[in-house]
This record gives sequence, structure tokens and C-alpha cells, in this order.
Amino acid sequence: MTDNPLDVIDFGDGQPSLSLLPVDALRTAADHCLTRGDAALLQYGADQGDVGFRESLARFLTHRYATPVSAEHLMVSAGASQALDLVCTRFTQPGDTILVEEPTYFLALEVFRDHGLRVVGIPLDHDGIQLDALRDALTRHRPALLYTIPSFQNPSGSTMSAARREQLAEVSREHDLLIVADEVYQLLDFGTAPPPPLATHVHAARVLSLGSFSKICAPGLRLGWIQGSPALLEHLLQSGVVHSGGGLNPFVSGVVNSLLDLGLADAGLDALRGIYAERSAVLCRALREELPMATFVEPRGGYFVWVQLSSVMSASQLLPIAAAEGVGYRAGALFSSRDGFASALRLSFAHYDEAALLHGVHRLARAIASYSTSAE
Ligand SMILES: Cc1ncc(COP(=O)(O)O)c(C=O)c1O
Repeated sequence: MTDNPLDVIDFGDGQPSLSLLPVDALRTAADHCLTRGDAALLQYGADQGDVGFRESLARFLTHRYATPVSAEHLMVSAGASQALDLVCTRFTQPGDTILVEEPTYFLALEVFRDHGLRVVGIPLDHDGIQLDALRDALTRHRPALLYTIPSFQNPSGSTMSAARREQLAEVSREHDLLIVADEVYQLLDFGTAPPPPLATHVHAARVLSLGSFSKICAPGLRLGWIQGSPALLEHLLQSGVVHSGGGLNPFVSGVVNSLLDLGLADAGLDALRGIYAERSAVLCRALREELPMATFVEPRGGYFVWVQLSSVMSASQLLPIAAAEGVGYRAGALFSSRDGFASALRLSFAHYDEAALLHGVHRLARAIASYSTSAE
């Protein structure tokens, strides 16, 4: 690609490049699934999702999580966003307080806004959500739930330690706190698996774990799952939308069932992990070379690098200057429940090949240089 200013390189785009979407594998899976001629796939589905699909998914997760997952603990969703919306519908009332990590996924904040929820942020440290701050918040609020992204967090890229996960499950038991663990990046490590997902606590704590094929296969499938105890799933299933529409996405579940059974989901996921690992390494190397004053922790999985600029810089004020240079990103303040992270940027490496990543960082460096000059 050329360094054409018309080709905006938007590091804000948290989605895979089109070249990574598995058209051939899905054609094979769809052929395999339709050749069976099972018209039930085109019927309203079972409320919890097709049992055959849930069994295949349970085998896939058992292998990938290296911990047993059973079909009865899985409910099919239309992706993690829809699952989060359903959880809010069934477990919160407008005006309730909920707890989130600070920073957190900005579009989850939008879902919480849709439900009229009051959001209280709990800071992260190196090991994940800070438990002292969480305990303190629990003395002052009666939150309907805590929303956490334990692995390769969006936006910070950080991963909760194994010990912190255990302690968080303990807090959930002590306070009867519902934990909604958004684990969409859990399987997207670059070679070293993160600690076991919070999904492993569904038997012993009030945990709902959200998973999705968006990050491990293709977002357009709109297919995901919720893992939880039968009692929590039963509460989710008592939903007007589920009763009226039947199980979510039965046809796509059938195609993905074939993808899983043919081993194509495993192969595709492993290929993605390798590509994202390379892209992340390229982006981080370029950032070190071109923006030596910026600080960040190199991610070990997921989609994102969370970059801290000098504290006198405003990522929001830098945005138009960056746009003029042909580069974009998400400003840190978007990810805060209380206008924090003014000098942070979230960069995604999922959407661009190596050449574009290098051009993008070069443009970003030029934008920062011109912002710094104009501020002098
Ligand atoms: C933390 C997190 N949760 C959920 C989603 C959306 O997932 P889905 O496509 O399954 O709705 C994203 C996508 O960026 C995400 O980063």
C-alpha cells in the first residue's frame, strides 16, 4: 500500500480485516450442514439453543479451556452484545447501580445506558480489578452486577491473574454478587494461555460467562454463548424475546456445528492467533521506535494496545490532527465511566496488515509531533 493520505488507517476499528474472514471454511461447513437436509434448522429453535450444537460447543470449549464444560451450562446467544443486553433485561431494573472495570469496553457502557443503569468504575491494577476498591464499593452500593473482561481486556489488553480470579469468585460468594464475565478474548492468546476463564466458577459462584464466535471466527455470524448454572440460565430463558423468537440463531448454529465437527473452527482460531501475534508485535515495535515517549504494555492476546501519552496531552484534542494525517484511534476517555484516561489511546492491530500498521504509526507520530509543536 502507498502512504496515500486518502487511505485512512483507523486503529480505532476493533474488527478483523476482511482477508481474515473464513469464507471457504464457512462454505464447506454450510455445505456439510445443508447436505444433511435437516429442515429443523430452518424452524424456530429450542429456547436454550440446539442441543446438538451445544454439545459440540461444549466439546470445543472443554478442549480449548482445558476444563470440563457441559451442554446444560450453555445457552446460545446472538453474540456477546446481545447476551449482555439480555442479562441486563433479566437481572437489572432501570436506576440500579452496576460495577465495571475502569477502563472498560465503551460499547458495553452504551448497553448499560440503554437500560438506565448507574455505572460505578473500579480501577484495575497489574493483576486485574482492584479488590479493595471493589469491597469498598460493595459497602456503599448494592450493585445488580459486576461486568468484567478478565482476559486481554478491551481496551487495556490486561489479563486478570489466576489468584485474582479466585478472590473475585470468593467476593461473589460472600456478597452474592452476580459477575458477568465478558470472555470474548479468552481463546485469543498469542501462545501462552491466560488463567482459566471465570466460566470455570459457574458451579460455585454467581457467574455468567459470555463467549462469542465474533473474535474467534467471524463477527457477521452473530453467534455466541452464555455459560452459567442451570438456575441462572433458567432466569435468562424466561425472556419475552426468547419465548417469542425461539432459540437465537438456529440456522447459523447448525453451520457452526459443522464448522466445529469438521475441525475447521480449531484450525481457523489457531491461524488467527498466529496472525494477531505477528500484527501485535509489528505494532508494538513500531510504537517503540516512533513514539519512544509513549508507554504501553505489550499485549499477549486479544486485539488492543493501550497507549499512554504524556499526561499533558489530550487524546481527544489530538484526534482531528491525527485525522488530518490520515490516522484514527479511540480516545481513552470513551472507556471511562467518569471522564478518565484523557491521555490514553486504544489502538487495534486486528484490522490491518503489517505495512498498514507501520504507515499508521508513522502518521500517528507525525500527528503527535505537530500537536506538541502547536502546544508549545
Ligand atoms: C469486550 C467485548 N465484548 C463484546 C464485544 C462484541 O461481541 P459480539 O460481536 O459477540 O457482540 C466486543 C467487540 O469488540 C468486545 O470487545
